[in-house]
Amino acid sequence: MPGICIVGAQWGDEGKGKVVDLLAEQADAIVRFQGGNNAGHTIIRDGEVFKFHLIPSGILYPGKRCIIGNGVVVDPGVLTDELDALKARGIDTSGLRISANAHVIMPYHLLLDTAGEAKLGKLQIGTTRRGIGPCYADKAARLGIRMQDLLDERILKKKITAAIDPKRLSLRPYDKDPSLDLQSMTEAYLTYGHRLERHIADTARIVWDALDADKLVLYEGAQGALLDIDHGTYPFVTSSNPIAGAACVGAGVGPKDIHEVWGIAKAYVTRVGSGPFPTELDDEVGEEIRTRGGEFGTTTGRARRTGWLDIPALRYASRINGLTSLAITKLDVLSGFQKIKVCMSYSGPDGAEFENFPYHQSVLHHARGEYVELDGWTEDITECRSPSDLPTAARDYLQFIAEKTGVPVMLVGVGPGRDQIVWMRDVPELAAAA
Ligand code: GDP
Ligand code: IMO
Ligand code: MG
Repeated sequence: MPGICIVGAQWGDEGKGKVVDLLAEQADAIVRFQGGNNAGHTIIRDGEVFKFHLIPSGILYPGKRCIIGNGVVVDPGVLTDELDALKARGIDTSGLRISANAHVIMPYHLLLDTAGEAKLGKLQIGTTRRGIGPCYADKAARLGIRMQDLLDERILKKKITAAIDPKRLSLRPYDKDPSLDLQSMTEAYLTYGHRLERHIADTARIVWDALDADKLVLYEGAQGALLDIDHGTYPFVTSSNPIAGAACVGAGVGPKDIHEVWGIAKAYVTRVGSGPFPTELDDEVGEEIRTRGGEFGTTTGRARRTGWLDIPALRYASRINGLTSLAITKLDVLSGFQKIKVCMSYSGPDGAEFENFPYHQSVLHHARGEYVELDGWTEDITECRSPSDLPTAARDYLQFIAEKTGVPVMLVGVGPGRDQIVWMRDVPELAAAA
């Protein structure tokens, strides 16, 4: 079982970091394959909190290969800060490798992200303003700067020159004199290149070697299925593909090198930023979930929107990812609710009912959840460690999710700590199988 892909099955922040950290113990290589520092993955170990934006969530294990794949967009300033912060905490970062083909977020990408949102006004996407979209746009336009370019002054200067002119034009309405000085930008990015040089490598080859030696490789997704640029709630999405298929492209492996796909979903739903959210709770129940769950963004600190679990959306995420298992996180947050609602279908403004996730934007924007009500539980479950420790109503809830999605629940989160989990099936011995 050498390749397991961990993906978000909702709108991000499902607890991917924690699950990757759990499985990483048995892995040889952990690869981020898309997104950038719009991601914020939290790991809590013995009360110590780590928040990763670019570095894969396996870095806390010394000696593992932690790979930033070619599909990721890298802000080298953020990456060097993240490396420094880890080193200051005594973490060995020598195992980090960055694909030479990964694209680089430049200062003009950040300016364009902010300008783009300003231009959209009320219709803004609510991006993290980290320059993610403009960087992927340059990649597609073949105007991108890649990590390998940071190692060659002549090439870097040429590429920045080619990329920068159209940016000046686009930015002019927002900023009369955007600070886009070629010389200082080249110098700053060469310094990053110098600093990161020993980590830059042919990462697809490293992953291939690990797979060839039958070692366990984890593909760590960022964001979530409903933020996917092709399959998500476009245009309120991110600019990459957070679904499992993208791990092939973004890590440089073939489809046969992914053997399992684990979808991570909260026991309810959250979303940061704008866009449709059929089960959103705009009331005190939503507020209570936000408070209890500490639902504030890891990257931007924004309050996350909250809502009940959405089965059609989860079924959809399962389908487009080919999920083989589910990990349901934050079940502890629902303790104390007398009744738990679960969305089973949607109703449209004209009374139409939809059992499946609507593909049409106008339908989705007006869709409202239709619910069944399940019994809640009052017990604190944060100390539960096996399925039999869980209250019957909590077990029934998990069983309900597995039945309605057709995907078995492998793992349940009952608190933020590393040990606060319940394996619902036999703990897989991944390393032995690898
Ligand atoms: P990611 O982006 O998918 O890695 O998720 P984030 O780290 O952005 O957000 C998940 C948040 O939930 C973090 O603060 C985690 O510490 C926390 N968390 C993860 N699993 C659980 C759980 O089972 N229960 C509780 N209460 N918190 C959890
Ligand atoms: P992790 O990996 C939650 C959201 C933003 C915005 C939209 C587009 O921690 O789950 P972008 O900056 O990517 O152009 O913003 O996507 N978004 C996330 N929401 N978790 C994330 O990452 C996200 N990364 C981006 O809020 O709505
Ligand atoms: Mg997050």
